[in-house]
Amino acid sequence: LKILTSMLLSLFEVGGSLIENAVEKVVGINLTSMVLVTTAFLLSVVYLSKKIMQSHIENPSPGCKKYPPHIPSSIPFLGHALSFGRSPIQFLENAYEKYGPVFSFTMVGKTFTYLLGSDAATLLFNSKNEDLNAEDVYSRLTTPVFGSGVAYDVPNPVFLEQKKMLKTGLNVAQFKQHVTLIEEETQEYFKRWGDSGERNLFEALSELIILTASRCLHGKEIRSLLDEKVAQLYADLDGGFTHAAWLLPGWLPLPSFRRRDKAHREIKQIFYRVIQRRRQFGEKEDDMLQTLLDATYKDGHPLSDDEIAGMLIGLLLAGQHTSSTTSAWMGFFLARDKSLQDQCYAEQKAVCGEELPPLDYDQLKDMSLLDRCLKETLRLRPPIMTMMRMAKSPQSVASVTRACQKKKQFLKKTKQNLRWLWRQKLDFLIPPPPIAGHCHFKKFVFSLLGRHRCIGENFAYVQIKTIWSTLLRLYEFDLVDGYFPKVNYTTMIHTPNNPVIRYKRRLY
Ligand code: HEM
Repeated sequence: LKILTSMLLSLFEVGGSLIENAVEKVVGINLTSMVLVTTAFLLSVVYLSKKIMQSHIENPSPGCKKYPPHIPSSIPFLGHALSFGRSPIQFLENAYEKYGPVFSFTMVGKTFTYLLGSDAATLLFNSKNEDLNAEDVYSRLTTPVFGSGVAYDVPNPVFLEQKKMLKTGLNVAQFKQHVTLIEEETQEYFKRWGDSGERNLFEALSELIILTASRCLHGKEIRSLLDEKVAQLYADLDGGFTHAAWLLPGWLPLPSFRRRDKAHREIKQIFYRVIQRRRQFGEKEDDMLQTLLDATYKDGHPLSDDEIAGMLIGLLLAGQHTSSTTSAWMGFFLARDKSLQDQCYAEQKAVCGEELPPLDYDQLKDMSLLDRCLKETLRLRPPIMTMMRMAKSPQSVASVTRACQKKKQFLKKTKQNLRWLWRQKLDFLIPPPPIAGHCHFKKFVFSLLGRHRCIGENFAYVQIKTIWSTLLRLYEFDLVDGYFPKVNYTTMIHTPNNPVIRYKRRLY
């Protein structure tokens, strides 16, 4: 296998420089030729590699299976990309039924191995970054957006230090201030909705999440500069998180890539000015920007302006899609179940008092029904459905070995577990059952353990619960003619399709 791998690597190296030369010649002349050259080369390499690898995979050594089952495809290069793209959940469920929790397939010339369910996915959380590597898969997307020197552009130990600095700024004292800021932003934003109507809930919540995150995580100076022009810059930056940016080479002169890079430069300039003013005048604020200005790495050196600006962009965008989609789905679940919505409103009064005074952090913690609605939304509509890693070394997944030993029994057991986990029954009213290993939603929504765990979880809870407490006090929500949005699988984070909701001002 080593020989085969090195043959393939040499092929890629030779091909890479061929493409580079070809591209140098065609750039500026003809984009189509460039794409054709790249595609032709990739098709040939993929065809060759597929033939070589297939012969290896189809003839595993006798005894226990060495490789996960590979789902065959008759479409060269694209493989299963189309059927997966159309309906990833159905594709994965079918594959799970047929092959069990661990299987591989090809899409756009790349082999993906899926680990489905908590048992199999444990490997992903517990492995070392040197073995299952995150930056190799995420950096293509994040580095052009956040910039260099941060997140997946640096070795993981450095990113871990940066995450620790950010985590210092996400503390309870800060959350207590955030609740008031988010409530104010929400009341202000929804003034434009008037007393009743039908509006795009996802669009509104996406705009509101940017405003609240900027106010809470960037500080008042940067928030005060957030006008329509800056909002457009964020939208252009955000346009960098696409399948195209992940799959296509970054140097392609695509309009979305150019807009992303221009927005990145302009936003950084805005942040530099604010950072320099704070440094110059020595004003000390109690916020995330100050935390980063005062932070140092283990060896004592401080963050550069560029690193601070990159971390601020990362902080804003890491929670943007996750929180806005989750809040929107939660709104549709509440609109679909009026009795649940009424109980959530009653909880506002029970926890905060009949007069519904301004919210505070301790009250939010006592809103257990609202909390379960949020958790159930995250379980049924997880914004990050798939976590990805590049396998740098051979890995054995416990379930594959176990599947060899006791195949039938094991597959049956995991199927039941998976169905249990994703069944559509809504558990808004009961606390999660204490079944070891599978029950707690965190186990499959936020990466509970490991070096890539989410640092924004508590902030996301504060943000979404404050927004929904405020909205429940303002309006009653209904589905428009009973329409509950379908899932839009074409976006990287699965958003609600046609997310229009009906609302009217609450009068009692
Ligand atoms: C509903 C909201 C959110 C959900 C569902 C969510 C989910 C996740 C998940 C599943 C991961 C693991 C990704 C992986 O292992 O590949 C993650 C990591 C992370 N999240 Fe969140 N997140 C949310 C909100 C936020 C917010 C608001 C922030 C920032 C304020 C944030 C910052 C991060 C960071 C920095 C990481 C670490 C990435 C790494 O170390 O590789 N998240 N999140």
